[in-house]
Amino acid sequence: MLTPRIAALLTLLLASSSLGQRARRPPRPPSPISTIQPKANFDAQQFAGTWLLVAVASPCRHLQEQGHRAEATTLHVAPQGSAMTVSTFRKLDGICWAVRQLYGNTGRPGRFLLQARGARGPVDVVVGDTDYRGFAVLYLERARQLSVKLYVRSLPVGDSFLSVFEQRVQGANLTEDHTLFFPKYGECPSLPEAPW
Ligand SMILES: *[C@@H]1O[C@H](CO)[C@@H](O)[C@H](O)[C@H]1NC(C)=O
Repeated sequence: MLTPRIAALLTLLLASSSLGQRARRPPRPPSPISTIQPKANFDAQQFAGTWLLVAVASPCRHLQEQGHRAEATTLHVAPQGSAMTVSTFRKLDGICWAVRQLYGNTGRPGRFLLQARGARGPVDVVVGDTDYRGFAVLYLERARQLSVKLYVRSLPVGDSFLSVFEQRVQGANLTEDHTLFFPKYGECPSLPEAPW
């Protein structure tokens, strides 16, 4: 049992420590991706299937420097309830690599959390826009760095898809200088069957 005096003292201590914290920490600006609206009524069933990566806009210099080595990436998306399993196929130095990841459910359609390994923490993913049949614009954020990706169902890429992407890139405060296009398609499987 706490005596009233100790209880009062505790209350005072708790109050002053939370006040102290509030004074020390300036309010954190919202992370860039939290300002991005997902595609309205996002439908994972319609989003399923194969997507080809066309372009990435990213402030990340590392990615830009890797760009000349990176070849096009194919995604294969399979809905799992409110989450999605995403298999990524990439051809690098003549070898096909496959990575399978879970885009975890966040309780909000079109918004996912990817628990990636490594020190840089999880990746927030938002499907910002898609018509399901032609194109998709995905936003990814890791360590508060926002990147924007354009995927299409088939090549060549429609001009209208490119202009939607350019607007999205500007809206994310990025420019053409941050944008990398993936012109080449290798022979990685584009329609993976089991076990993927
Ligand atoms: C872009 O910059 C503006 C002005 O600084 C800011 O209000 C906005 O939140 C930024 N957008 C993103 C997605 O970071």
